[in-house]
Amino acid sequence: MKKIGVFTSGGDAPGMNACIRAVVRSATYHGIDVYGIRSGYQGMIEGDIAKLEPKDVANIIQYGGTILKTARSKEFMTLEGRKKAYEQLVKFEIDGLVCIGGDGTYTGAGIFFDEYGIPSIGAPGTIDNDLYGTDFTIGFDTAVNTALDAIDRIRDTADSHNRLFFIEVMGRDSGFIALNAGIAGGAEGILLPEIMSDYDDLIKHFNNKEKRRKEFSIIIVAEGEKEGNAFEISKKFQDNFSGYDVRVSVLGHIQRGGKPSANDRILASTLGNAAVEQLMAGKSNACVGVVNAEVVVTPFHEAIYKSKSINQTLWNLSKILSN
Ligand code: F6P
Repeated sequence: MKKIGVFTSGGDAPGMNACIRAVVRSATYHGIDVYGIRSGYQGMIEGDIAKLEPKDVANIIQYGGTILKTARSKEFMTLEGRKKAYEQLVKFEIDGLVCIGGDGTYTGAGIFFDEYGIPSIGAPGTIDNDLYGTDFTIGFDTAVNTALDAIDRIRDTADSHNRLFFIEVMGRDSGFIALNAGIAGGAEGILLPEIMSDYDDLIKHFNNKEKRRKEFSIIIVAEGEKEGNAFEISKKFQDNFSGYDVRVSVLGHIQRGGKPSANDRILASTLGNAAVEQLMAGKSNACVGVVNAEVVVTPFHEAIYKSKSINQTLWNLSKILSN
């Protein structure tokens, strides 16, 4: 392997830059040239590709976002688009890829490998933490801390006005951010897509007037909650409990940006290096992750089709502590 390409794809996540840096520096250390592919699969199709030297990735470890930009390419989902992408890789003589992103990114790399045999290793970059094959994804820790900072601020005003806040956090299909930010933020209720009875439990909890003596409250709602979004849920709640002064706050994309935490930088650096080592060892069609503090390699198809479960111990803890 002489030349590899690196790109970021899907939603950006804090720590992606640290991962790009690790790929470039590790590969260069082993005598491999690295090409940065801008805007994910779309840049691959368009040949938006340039060599990255170690100095090009200096002074980026502390920044959120991705210096390579990112995109969700519709064209790459077509046979014609992937053919164009392959032709560009041949032109630049790229013989291996490191793709940093979520399950959509892995799916694209897997199909590309099946069609053209280009070896790819994935590194998990998404704030949602919803990828099998790693305890944590790059960006999750930072996103939880960003949400937590906002929750703490909202708590001040909720307390002052004796209000009940529904705070919506990101997680299109998963409640990892909601559960962790909810526990760390001392939420009275947490609503997750993975738990079917959570809204009914919340109503039961508020009906239990003897037990419930709190004057103000924070309820965390994951974006993908099946009962509806935070506005819909707050409306339903008010139909049952008109006495509460309710407000809604949707944290949105602030959770995707900002300085990556130390944990995310270390995870991203470890996995960027591991991805290069796996390519060098002849591995492909798989992603790297950290499970129980060890680097592990998981085939793409497993990482895509197996789902990571919510930590039941943390969920039970949230129930005990919200009493
Ligand atoms: O990166 C994942 C995620 O943050 C989801 O939780 C969210 O639903 C989605 O991205 C929103 O992404 P975009 O605004 O880029 O479509």
